[in-house]
Amino acid sequence: MERLDKRLSAAGYSRKEAAVLIRAGRVKADSAVVTVPETKLPGAAVLTVDGVPLREGFLYIMLHKSAGVVTSTEDPWERTVLDLLPEELRRRGVFPVGRLDKDVTGLVLLTDDGPLGHRLTSPRHHVDKVYQVTVDGVLTKEDEAALTAGLVLGDGLRCLPARLERTGRGNVALLTLREGKYHQVKRMMACLGKPVTALKRLAMGPLTLDERLKPGEWRLLTKEEVAKLTKNA
Ligand code: URA
Repeated sequence: MERLDKRLSAAGYSRKEAAVLIRAGRVKADSAVVTVPETKLPGAAVLTVDGVPLREGFLYIMLHKSAGVVTSTEDPWERTVLDLLPEELRRRGVFPVGRLDKDVTGLVLLTDDGPLGHRLTSPRHHVDKVYQVTVDGVLTKEDEAALTAGLVLGDGLRCLPARLERTGRGNVALLTLREGKYHQVKRMMACLGKPVTALKRLAMGPLTLDERLKPGEWRLLTKEEVAKLTKNA
C-alpha cells in the first residue's frame, strides 16, 4: 500500500501540487475520485490526473533538438535541451543520452534511467547513429570507400568503419557511425576535405526521429520504442 500523494510526487509533482490536485478531485484511482492526499492505495491501482494516466517508472523522451541549444542539463549562458521541456519533466531529473553540438539538430533521447543511458553511451556498446550530413563539396565513391575502410583522422584517431549513402546532388548523405567521438562527423568530413555545413541526427539504435516533431518539440517514447531500446541496449 502506498500513499496517493507520494505516488504523485514520485511521478514529478511536488507534494504541494499533488495535494492541490487531489483535493480538487482531479485524481482518480481505478476510476474513482480520491480527495484525501494521505489515502493508502494498493500499488496496482491505476492513477489518472484529469483523465490522463499517471506516468510512473522511468521517463523516456524523444526530442527534436533545434539549433542554438546545448545538450547539457545546465549552462550559465546557453539554453539547454532541458529548457525545451516542461517543468514537471525537468524535475524528474532527466538527462540527455549523448551529445549533439550546439549547431546540430535532430534526435536526442532524454531519460532518468541512468543504467540505460550509461549503456547507450558506453564506448563498448557501439550503438548505430545515423546522421544526415550536408557538406561543402561533393561526396564521391572514394569517400564512401575511405569511410568503409575506417578513416584515420589528422590527430591519429582511427575511426570504426562507417557507412555513407550519397543522396541528391552529392553534397548530402546519410552517414551511419558506430561510435560517438567528440565532433566526430565534422572531423571525418574535414579529413575528407569537405567541411560540414549542416548536420542532423536521424536515428540512434532502434530509435528514429519522429518526422512529426518540429525542431524544439518532444514527445514521450511509446511502449514499443522503450521495449526496443531496452532490448537493444
Ligand atoms: N558529430 C559531430 O561532429 N557533431 C555532433 O553533434 C554529432 C556528431
